Amino acid sequence: MAKTSFESLSEIEQKLLKAAKAVLRRSYSPYSGFQVGAAVLTEDNKIITGTNFESASYGDSICAERAALLRANSQGHGDECVAIAIVTRNKNSPTKEVSSPCGSCRQLILEAAQRSRIRRAFKIIMATTKFDKVEASTIGALLPSAFGPEDLEENSQETKEIKNGN
Ligand code: THU
Repeated sequence: MAKTSFESLSEIEQKLLKAAKAVLRRSYSPYSGFQVGAAVLTEDNKIITGTNFESASYGDSICAERAALLRANSQGHGDECVAIAIVTRNKNSPTKEVSSPCGSCRQLILEAAQRSRIRRAFKIIMATTKFDKVEASTIGALLPSAFGPEDLEENSQETKEIKNGN
């Protein structure tokens, strides 16, 4: 993950980060007190937000990133997503560092990325609420050697190698 600054982001990326911060107050996180706001950017600069949503049955909680991606898809932008911004705040202690998406969210970001034109260059921007710490990465960097749609293809390279006895 590369450290960057709010000022060095493009205008639309700054807007995206602000949207992720603005939606943070809608986070439903009574059990962990960990608030997450996410904002997905489409290739024609639409912004779609989401928050984490917890359940008394803890394991059923949904992360903000996945909530935002599912909203983007249901609004007709499933194959047009190019970036996601994530802002986190721990209600119980001052948040000093950025948080990066959990493994399940990375896998779904990868899925959205695969559907997009930019694929593994899909940008992930993470920040604290004050934007004093901002980091940027790509899904290619955050989820290397990932399991992806190509693994399901009958003619994937690996399948070919196994069939050839290598
Ligand atoms: N959470 C997210 O929303 N995104 C992540 O990538 C990691 C974790 C949420 C889930 C739960 O509501 C809270 O943060 C604490 O794990």
